[in-house]
Amino acid sequence: MQHDDVINALLQALGTEVVTLPARFGSRQVVDWSGLPGATPRAIIRPRNTQEVAAALRVCDEYRQPVVTQGGLTGLVGGANLRDGEVALSLERMNRIVEIDRTSGTMTVEAGTPLQVVQEAALDAGLYFPLDLGARGSCTIGGNLATNAGGNRVIKYGMMRDQVLGLEAVLASGEVVGALHKMIKNNSGYDLRNLMIGSEGTLGVITRAVLRLRQRPRAVATAWCALPSYSAVTQLLEEAQAGLAAGVSAFEVMWAGYYDAVLANLPSLRAPVNERYPYYVLLESVGGDPVRHAQAFEEFLGRMLEANVVADAAVASSESDALAFWAIRDAPGEYPKFIPNHAAYDVSFSISDVGDVAARCDARLSERWPQALVMIYGHLGDGNIHIVVDVPGAGKTLHGEIDDVIYEVTREFHGSVSAEHGIGTKKKGYLGFTRSDADVVAMRAVKAALDPRGILNPGKIF
Ligand code: FAD
Ligand code: LAC
Ligand code: ZN
Repeated sequence: MQHDDVINALLQALGTEVVTLPARFGSRQVVDWSGLPGATPRAIIRPRNTQEVAAALRVCDEYRQPVVTQGGLTGLVGGANLRDGEVALSLERMNRIVEIDRTSGTMTVEAGTPLQVVQEAALDAGLYFPLDLGARGSCTIGGNLATNAGGNRVIKYGMMRDQVLGLEAVLASGEVVGALHKMIKNNSGYDLRNLMIGSEGTLGVITRAVLRLRQRPRAVATAWCALPSYSAVTQLLEEAQAGLAAGVSAFEVMWAGYYDAVLANLPSLRAPVNERYPYYVLLESVGGDPVRHAQAFEEFLGRMLEANVVADAAVASSESDALAFWAIRDAPGEYPKFIPNHAAYDVSFSISDVGDVAARCDARLSERWPQALVMIYGHLGDGNIHIVVDVPGAGKTLHGEIDDVIYEVTREFHGSVSAEHGIGTKKKGYLGFTRSDADVVAMRAVKAALDPRGILNPGKIF
């Protein structure tokens, strides 16, 4: 029976050290953070190097065995979840830092390396890896690449796509493509690296990458700002970009509904300002000169307070103050504690539209479900907001209807149904709200060319 043939072939190629069967791990499912259903894998493959990934894919391709690649399982769209009859390929053992090259400003890592390990190793080397997001402790570089993760510092440093110089990946056929280049410039034909980035495990398995490191900021200034109106929020963004010589490294906005709910439900959080306001912004600027940087930052905030752009502000006077501000912004990691059944969205628009989008979503949701908790927050500097909706007592039964409300507004404003988390299985039905038919035909052609038997993460994106 073909069923057993593929497992036998995998065991023969890689051995029981790499290929684990349900007899060992039971009916355990390995699912991501989306809350979407998964299935027990037929086998879990845990390769130790690129050659073993290639060997695994060669066998799976030959037997048309579907494979789901898994990193840290912090994805939010079901991309790493399995269906019945699939095998899981986990990068957990490929978690080494291969090299740090200070002169070139690069770090070469295996794809299973957690983001926080990379951030800390860069700091230890006197450099900086700027990608940052709430799941930093568990998410992996491979997962960050496969989803083209964004996070909190995109406004200054760009998305994951902008943090990579070289990338190695294994195609469904077992061919290894790409290379561990350290070149900033490389216009030698189609950029396969950028094709793999954001492909959500559907075009290849990313095995190693050369990350681009930046100068370690010598000064970090952080403020918690309270604002009276949405127009004040966008004015602060413009003024900060023009008026802070070192630029803006984070501009995270939180509507009052978010702030009130996380403070009410998470006793470890402290309110940085005394009164309640309609909007809050966590503003961060990194620079080179500790004394002058802090002074310039405070002068800037003073001007914004005087002009009534900012109604109140607290400036972090220590790293622990700054961490306390960030804890309020990182509260989504704690949602399982108080809104385990929430529906979550990750949408983007032109910055000028975001205020109207938020108001329209809020109005339609509140009209339909007056008791709903609606929390809006996100990376406004990138035009990207997250909307989280929880209707008390409804469990997850209303998710489909809430999806329709949010994505209809997204279509009305010509936005994207996924700013940073990807499509996975969760948003498949709404891909056409953002991408044209011709786009989807072209994407399917790329998929068919690189994975003709459709073994890599089938059923994801399309
Ligand atoms: P997984 O969940 O394991 O996989 C994600 C997808 O990538 C799947 O489709 C999988 O098949 C594929 N994949 C994984 N590894 C590889 C590989 N080596 N080769 C090919 N395909 C692979 N995202 C943001 O962009 N910005 C945020 O601010 C942000 N904040 C978050 C906060 C929290 C608390 C959580 C839980 C998640 C957050 N995310 C955010 C979601 C984000 O997508 C993930 O945290 C991260 O990028 C996924 O990495 P992972 O290793 O956990 O991937
Ligand atoms: C955030 C994740 C959910 O920004 O993307 O909190
Ligand atoms: Zn985000």
